[in-house]
Amino acid sequence: MSAPVAIPGLDTTVTDHARLRAWVADMAALTTPDEVVWCDGSDEEWRRLTDQLVESGTLVRLNEERKPNSFWARTDPSDVARVEERTYICSESEEDAGPTNNWMAPAQMKNIMTQLYRGCMRGRTMYVIPFCMGPLNAEKPMFGVEITDSAYVVASMRIMARMGSEVLTAMGDDADFVPAMHSIGAPLEPGQADVEWPCSQTKYISHFPETREIWSYGSGYGGNSLLGKKCYSLRIGSAMGRDEGWMAEHMLILRLTSPQGKVYHVTGAFPSACGKTNLAMLEPTIPGWKVETLGDDIAWMRFGEDGRLYAVNPEYGLFGVAPGTDYKTNPNAMRTIAQGNSLFTNVALTDDGDIWWEGMGEPPAHLIDWKGQDWTPESGELSSHPNSRFCTPIKQCPILADSYDDPRGVPIDAILFGGRRATTIPLVSQSRDWNHGVFQGATLSSETTAAAVGKVGVVRRDPMAMLPFIGYHGGDYFRHWIEMGKGKDGSGETDKLPAIFYVNWFRRGEDGGFLWPGFGENSRVLKWVVERLEGTADAEETPIGYVPTPDSLDVDGLDLTAEQLAAALAVNPAEWRQELPLITEWFEKFGAKLPGVLWAELDALKARLSAE
Ligand code: GDP
Ligand code: PGA
Ligand code: MN
Ligand code: MN
Repeated sequence: MSAPVAIPGLDTTVTDHARLRAWVADMAALTTPDEVVWCDGSDEEWRRLTDQLVESGTLVRLNEERKPNSFWARTDPSDVARVEERTYICSESEEDAGPTNNWMAPAQMKNIMTQLYRGCMRGRTMYVIPFCMGPLNAEKPMFGVEITDSAYVVASMRIMARMGSEVLTAMGDDADFVPAMHSIGAPLEPGQADVEWPCSQTKYISHFPETREIWSYGSGYGGNSLLGKKCYSLRIGSAMGRDEGWMAEHMLILRLTSPQGKVYHVTGAFPSACGKTNLAMLEPTIPGWKVETLGDDIAWMRFGEDGRLYAVNPEYGLFGVAPGTDYKTNPNAMRTIAQGNSLFTNVALTDDGDIWWEGMGEPPAHLIDWKGQDWTPESGELSSHPNSRFCTPIKQCPILADSYDDPRGVPIDAILFGGRRATTIPLVSQSRDWNHGVFQGATLSSETTAAAVGKVGVVRRDPMAMLPFIGYHGGDYFRHWIEMGKGKDGSGETDKLPAIFYVNWFRRGEDGGFLWPGFGENSRVLKWVVERLEGTADAEETPIGYVPTPDSLDVDGLDLTAEQLAAALAVNPAEWRQELPLITEWFEKFGAKLPGVLWAELDALKARLSAE
């Protein structure tokens, strides 16, 4: 395919990496851009690209005093979230993609997408972005190279991943890397004017787990276009982890220090828009406790020499849900974005060149909304899309843990699974043991949110909050979790494993409101978790696990009645019996690949519930 083409910039690279050069040349020959640019990640490059994006109308520069070096972007109204229906796992055998993924044979998908890619960068620039997920000084740095025809993607990747010249140099001439191909799918004919948010109505987000490749087409939205994030770090990463004995999970990572100065590390897997970013940056409301942030979306977990499970955040930025974020709910996110150097997508613009979204205090009298229209509080519409996002450097987070850059990661003491459920699931419960915890994760359910295209508020199973991200057969994924529970190299040192808890900040009372105040008050739940680890907190053994006794949860100074607390913690056997057929139906989807251990857990749950 690499017929010689004279494309400016194609050969100006400083790299001797033959496989990389050949791939870039092939993709340039296929997509025929006007020019190829190898991204160096410099400040000068950022300035050039953001200036150009302001010129083309994709970005609006914000008020320097309020949000220095920051920009406002509005997408096409059809390009606002991940497109799960258009996301494919293209393993050789359909069986390997499992029942939770869309599948197409790799050759067939490559055929379709090669037709789409042919000439698709006409009139545009092809950018080549060398990046590394996780620290560059890791024992085995996890390299990737993204090709894209979107300057917005380059600017966003500079925030979200370690990228540029330093990475390219570290790759040398033969390092392994994940090729990640992206096009917005909007070629420009000579003289054709560009639109502010070019994209295509045809979208494919394709993953080839066996060859560790990513091909994305048609969308500029972060989850579909910043390929280091969901595509590499979760979908391809999970397949790598299965093969190599580690885990790629949709988890926040935080460091917690108790008033006695004891340090703990907690990860939490909650579905998209269910509270990861908020918990990761939490400001405790109880005296003497401290939280520091390590990651808000993705954790890579490996066994350390000591047999404990260590987590690393592969990302370099925060890509957070904007609505609901303010100084009351997530002050540390506000302090992070206040430093600038950020991109805001599909939020509203104020008259003085700042940003606003629902939940950020009183609405201003006038805004430009995410669709570019005039907005007033009387408009009766949301000013910001529910999945609007801030994209900001994690290094600006004022409570970033100093261990963030440690390539060995941090040792995990507790794993939280959580979902958004109006009923049934108590505020917190502790699993009986690892396998029961895996059962809790495998049956996790949550109401759908605006983070993916589709209906919002529908309860669906979202195993380990990974439903959209498992890069292989879900039954094999559960088996991998069970195997990890046997300890490093199957040592059986299960006392070194994290304890597993299941949380729900979103249970509702009879008045329809949330029973639990959430946000900073979730520190009370973290305290109970730590006290369980230390063996000092009481719990009631219920059919679904260990639930705090009303006295064991610190609610000092909280405006919460005993009835509300009891309702938040309640385990109602009748509600749980309704879950049983749903869990059975869910497990049946995985056929013979569902580990027998999980059927046994379901039987045991049934038995405990019928004894109630
Ligand atoms: P993520 O997408 O999992 O990182 O979730 P975020 O932390 O961005 O939160 C998603 C939405 O849930 C935001 O609108 C938050 O304001 C809201 N949220 C987060 N934590 C809580 C909580 O503890 N209680 C309630 N009621 N809402 C929360
Ligand atoms: P979230 O990340 O989990 O913070 O919502 C984006 C996503 O999962 O699409
Ligand atoms: Mn996510
Ligand atoms: Mn988040």
